[in-house]
Amino acid sequence: MNKEIIDKEPTIFEKSTCNIWTDPYIQQQLLNEHLNPMSDGASRKQESILRITDFVLSHSKPKSRLLDLGCGPGLYATLFKDKGYEVTGVDFNKASIYYATTERKDIRYILGDYVNEYPNGKYDTVIMIYCDLGTHSDNDRDKLLKNIYQSLDEGGIFIFDVFTEELVKDKSESKSWDYAVGGFWDKEEYLLLSQTFHYPENNAFAYQYNLLTKSETKHFIVWDRYYSGEEIKLVLKTIGFRKVTVHKNILDGNDFTSNSEMFIVAEK
Ligand SMILES: C[S@@+](CC[C@H](N)C(=O)[O-])C[C@H]1O[C@@H](n2cnc3c(N)ncnc32)[C@H](O)[C@@H]1O
Repeated sequence: MNKEIIDKEPTIFEKSTCNIWTDPYIQQQLLNEHLNPMSDGASRKQESILRITDFVLSHSKPKSRLLDLGCGPGLYATLFKDKGYEVTGVDFNKASIYYATTERKDIRYILGDYVNEYPNGKYDTVIMIYCDLGTHSDNDRDKLLKNIYQSLDEGGIFIFDVFTEELVKDKSESKSWDYAVGGFWDKEEYLLLSQTFHYPENNAFAYQYNLLTKSETKHFIVWDRYYSGEEIKLVLKTIGFRKVTVHKNILDGNDFTSNSEMFIVAEK
């Protein structure tokens, strides 16, 4: 079992050996967070989910084919299905997809990695909610955006959110440690060493975690890439999207992370 603590600053968009969304124990904790309607932890709180759903409904073709990338336990998928959409959801968190498929048999759920195994089919609307695009490297982002573009019919839209440059007001370089006898990160005693690194030249933050349990040390890196409105427009136009609009101040606030997000509607 690995016992090494990694203390060095990650290289830009470095991938860690462990992933919070697929870790066997943590994915279950994340599912619990998703299902708490008052929490902004893994999904936004219910009030914000309803507002985002209305925003998507106001931009998309009614009762059409919708793909939800990183659907989690299907909180949005269910709302769109109930509005008459033909919904596909994809996520690589097994606990979330198991929950989602058990809850709703009338929604097509796929357990998979949308960057490396993009789902087949054509869609009118693709959504990716809770700043998930910004967790990927610029290379993975572009690979994913090309697949999204290909999967949309002419006139189809991609709706997603990313953090703006205002993120730098809410995050800063830091180091901390937490000790617990069972909790979010492990069911038994653990020590969590957390570090935040800022990469101003890349508009990104890295959150590095060393999770020390009695038996092993797990290493996680989570990325947040932030954008200006102009930069994200350029990224999407380079892929081929012909019309891109930026929407701010849709949500009231966030109890877990920054609320500096902007929503983007990109039309093919
Ligand atoms: C912040 S959560 C948001 C979930 C959902 N969109 C919501 O707002 O309720 C990000 C989700 O994306 C999923 N995810 C991240 N990267 C993924 C990938 N490469 N392939 C599939 N799912 C991924 C995670 O498992 C997680 O469920």
